[in-house]
Amino acid sequence: MPVQPIRLFGDPLLRTPAEPVVDFDRELRTLVKDLQETMLDAPGVGLAAPQIGVGLRVFSYHVDDTLGHLVNPVLDLSEEEHEDDEGCLSFPGLAFPTTRAWSVVAKGQDMYGEPVTIEGTELLARCVQHETDHLDGILFIDRLDRTQRKLALKAIREADWAGETAPPVKLSPHAMHGRAL
Ligand code: NI
Repeated sequence: MPVQPIRLFGDPLLRTPAEPVVDFDRELRTLVKDLQETMLDAPGVGLAAPQIGVGLRVFSYHVDDTLGHLVNPVLDLSEEEHEDDEGCLSFPGLAFPTTRAWSVVAKGQDMYGEPVTIEGTELLARCVQHETDHLDGILFIDRLDRTQRKLALKAIREADWAGETAPPVKLSPHAMHGRAL
């Protein structure tokens, strides 16, 4: 069962911090395969485990023809920032200008438990930050400035997928678990 349904905004799991991976077993390798196949099928440039219903600190990415994954990521961000349009597979069809660190060094493990370091700029850096946010229950709309967030919340309310997988959520900027910027 490779391609999994992707959870949409409103699903409580997207707001639940994921647990660190401690068992580098066959289940983890199946999870990585499912993440990668679901991401490529979407298609998307990144996908985090909570988006397919698994609360573990794992994400996959596909940037510049490189297909990869990272387990238990820890990020070191550049001070230099960069704004670009950003979207999310859990918010189909929506994208908003989002400020992220320009470059990132991400340390973690691969699915066999071997140490891995990913260094990236621009889209790869943006993707790594976005997916690691997912593992903390943070969504890209939390990273928008006030004006863009208002536009995003309006677009979400009007989206045809709104409320599809969960009861409608209160779309107030104050309902963001205190994480809104
Ligand atoms: Ni996302």
